[in-house]
Amino acid sequence: MGGWWEDLVGYQVYVPSFLDSNGDGWGDLPGVTSRLGYLADLGVGLVWLSPFHPSPFADHGYDVADYRSLNPRLGDLADLAALLEEAGRLGLRVLMDLVPNHTSSAHAWFTDALTGPGAAHRDWYIWRPPGPGGGPPNNWVSRFGGPAWAFDQASGEYYLHLFAPEQPDLNWRNPAVAAEFDDIMAHWLDFGFSGFRLDVPHVVLKHPDLPDNPEVPAERVRPDVRGATEWGRFEHLYDMDQPDLFDLYRRWQAITAPRGAMLLGEVNITEPARLARYTDGGGLDAVFWFGLIEQLWEPERLPPALVGPAGTVPGLAWVLSSHDRPRAPTRYGGAPAGRRRSLALAALTVGLPGFPFLYQGDELGLEDIDVPADQVQDPLVLWGGATYARDRARSPHPWAPGPGLGFTTAPQAWMPLGQREPSETVEAQVADRGSLLHAYRELFSLRGAEEDLRRGELAWVSSSAPLLSYRRGSTAVAANLGPGPGEVPLPPGRWQAVYRTDRSATGTGHEGRVPVAPEHVVVLKTLP
Ligand code: GLC
Repeated sequence: MGGWWEDLVGYQVYVPSFLDSNGDGWGDLPGVTSRLGYLADLGVGLVWLSPFHPSPFADHGYDVADYRSLNPRLGDLADLAALLEEAGRLGLRVLMDLVPNHTSSAHAWFTDALTGPGAAHRDWYIWRPPGPGGGPPNNWVSRFGGPAWAFDQASGEYYLHLFAPEQPDLNWRNPAVAAEFDDIMAHWLDFGFSGFRLDVPHVVLKHPDLPDNPEVPAERVRPDVRGATEWGRFEHLYDMDQPDLFDLYRRWQAITAPRGAMLLGEVNITEPARLARYTDGGGLDAVFWFGLIEQLWEPERLPPALVGPAGTVPGLAWVLSSHDRPRAPTRYGGAPAGRRRSLALAALTVGLPGFPFLYQGDELGLEDIDVPADQVQDPLVLWGGATYARDRARSPHPWAPGPGLGFTTAPQAWMPLGQREPSETVEAQVADRGSLLHAYRELFSLRGAEEDLRRGELAWVSSSAPLLSYRRGSTAVAANLGPGPGEVPLPPGRWQAVYRTDRSATGTGHEGRVPVAPEHVVVLKTLP
């Protein structure tokens, strides 16, 4: 069950905000290389690098202008080769972020397509004449707000963009597009990547007839953690999750599998049975689980978000934060409660089938920063798709106290640094054995040492909030997510506490139940 990734802890490096090695205010690949040792010390085994290709940065690099070269601001091919070499030396695997759904409007394929209906690359994108009464061809909306169609004056046709207008969607029903991406994938795997984090792979194929999506009745529309969205007003029957996606993934799998590489999909579907289709023979090896990242601190809503997918969806990557959502400590009520709760959830999920995946800064308990409205760069807000600016979760990593936070020597970073306390920096947390950074390190080192936490058979002991516990082979995890003290049920037998998120003494034996402090978690091992 599961591939090599299930033994590893993943970590998302947001390259422009990780470490600036040349003082231009931008994080870069040599910066990442110089701190891979930090990730290895944390217990990370799998690193996902956010996009580093040439890009006008209309969507922070998710608008790729050339899939085979590098954004000079972030580094060159020699820098990337050096990064992969150092990763290999440290025993780390690296995933490239592959954005197959859309290119940048500055990509040569699209500029060619714009020259007219006869262009060689015209059919690489999705063009349609105006709808019956004029206006867009159907009612689809962009994830970033407004219609998903942009009008091209010159040809009188619309092109589809499920994200920003600067991100035209590729036409994956054109075999030339699929063939080109086969080649791109093989190219980067041969360069040394261990696979891909696939950007929104569930939307790459649309229903061939592009029918209107039904509207969700107003009373059923729910804002997500980023505020009310127009996207949420529709049932996305035809612009995502199409049945023939799986044939496409199997085609990709034929490129990755023989090389021992993996496909990790950013599939934002939170119904476990629907999501399971992607990894249970559907061609992807792993998928991020969005069930937790879409929640605030609501312990009563946790069981379905944990028990539902665990063991049902193969290849789950358990995430609490990303560059697209408010950071977990912010969603969970801010420091200090938010930090305590984030660590508790990290520990609660550490032994669930799948593997943990951190976003840079999770290990420091970072909260979102404030970004003044006139400094917001996020197209999600600029186009009116949501009220939450993702810039807030994308600020530079605080390496050390001081003006540039050890991130940059430039007077100004590409993104505001925010107000970070000295105690939030890597330097301070490395030096303090009681820090959150050490709590994460110890947790992951335990996961590495206890094979059963990764591979043992899962059995829930208590699956109703606020007391949750499960057994995984010779190990068990017990959580008290309530506001008061709790006695969490244990599996039969005698158990010894080996890790506590409250950092109190371990080694005590328990039978039947284990006392757990409010919003804390204990990991235990069977005693003979
Ligand atoms: C994914 C990325 C996000 C980006 C979007 C469009 O969701 O994580 O940052 O805006 O795809 O590429």
